[in-house]
Amino acid sequence: MHASEPLPSAKPVSASRTVISVVALPRDSNHYGFVYGGTVMGLVDQAAYAAAIRHARQTVVTVCVGDITFLKRIYVGDVITVRASVNYVGRTSLEVGVRIETERMRTGEVEHVGSAYVTMVALDADGTPVPVPPLELETDDDRRRCCEAAERRRARLAQLGRAGRS
Ligand SMILES: CC(C)(COP(=O)(O)OP(=O)(O)OC[C@H]1O[C@@H](n2cnc3c(N)ncnc32)[C@H](O)[C@@H]1OP(=O)(O)O)[C@@H](O)C(=O)NCCC(=O)NCCS
Repeated sequence: MHASEPLPSAKPVSASRTVISVVALPRDSNHYGFVYGGTVMGLVDQAAYAAAIRHARQTVVTVCVGDITFLKRIYVGDVITVRASVNYVGRTSLEVGVRIETERMRTGEVEHVGSAYVTMVALDADGTPVPVPPLELETDDDRRRCCEAAERRRARLAQLGRAGRS
């Protein structure tokens, strides 16, 4: 985007919400039959990427994966569902919140097994960060997540010794 181009118009959180479901296979697991953390992290990155590019409609790259937690083990045969939505938009970066759930197929029991916050940056063809559309907050949950993400961003940038621009 060139400086003379108008800023993109706001997009609602719902427009980029992303859900990915996969069956956990033996190749995803260690010899105990538990799914590797790296397998789950790959799914988290894919879901965050899809949500971010649906919002930005520009090339996006992962710059930071923060606060990733694994609360419970995932077993071979479970369906892993990863839900991603844009929580916060800065100037060129976005925070995507990711929730990881499993479904035990014999019983239908669904559990929240982990979460992560992924910061992605939109780039132009030269690899320079470019502005992303503002985020339209539609629900109380959207507003709460946005406030929490703004606080995480402030803390993260302060820790890095960087000043936020918005
Ligand atoms: C993404 C990248 C272009 C940013 O470069 P940069 O010189 O830091 O660019 P800027 O200073 O203009 O920052 C761009 C945005 O990223 C944010 N940012 C940069 N580093 C960050 C970090 N460590 N954590 C969170 N946000 C960060 C800035 O706050 C800024 O956000 P804003 O525009 O919304 O205010 C560069 O770090 C890069 O290319 N990284 C590699 C990305 C990649 O290959 N990912 C896949 C890895 S496996």
